[in-house]
Amino acid sequence: MASSLDELKKEIDGCRKCRLCEGRKNIVFGVGKPNADLMFIGEGPGADEDEQGEPFVGKAGKLMDKAFDGVGIKRENVYIANIVKCRPPKNRDPEDDEASICIDYLNEQIRLVNPKIIVLLGRIALNNILGKEYGITKDRGRWIEKDNILYMPIWHPAALLRDESKKIDFWKDLKEVKQKLELMENENG
Ligand code: URA
Repeated sequence: MASSLDELKKEIDGCRKCRLCEGRKNIVFGVGKPNADLMFIGEGPGADEDEQGEPFVGKAGKLMDKAFDGVGIKRENVYIANIVKCRPPKNRDPEDDEASICIDYLNEQIRLVNPKIIVLLGRIALNNILGKEYGITKDRGRWIEKDNILYMPIWHPAALLRDESKKIDFWKDLKEVKQKLELMENENG
């Protein structure tokens, strides 16, 4: 077991545990505050992320940044990672076996960051973290507590690019997250 995110990152370097390694340019490990109270989990790197080695730097990420600004969340105060760390070809969904291999790394990141709240961005993150009995349409915007962590499933920001009407939910859910975080931080002094 790694004792720090840097150590884990080194362990993952050059990973060839699944087929996604074949097409990647960079492993997209994750970025942000190492002991953040708030963590975001997306699906997997797209072309921009693969190019730059950082999550959510493309179109969807820019939209997320805008919403962060709007509700007062600072990127440098959160930790951001994905279900899979290498780009699926043609941005297809990660296959179940790819996700289940890679999620060991993500679980290590969650253990090391030890966040109070995890925001699950979209169906792939929700189903892989909490199980397939959950659905993003029925469960988004709803707090789910598991193992002392509060989870909030919300739309994936890429869904907002396809359907603008989802922006209202996205902003509302992020506001709820920010308020809950402030409440928890005030309670803990
Ligand atoms: N979509 C994701 O799910 N993750 C990223 O890092 C970028 C786009």
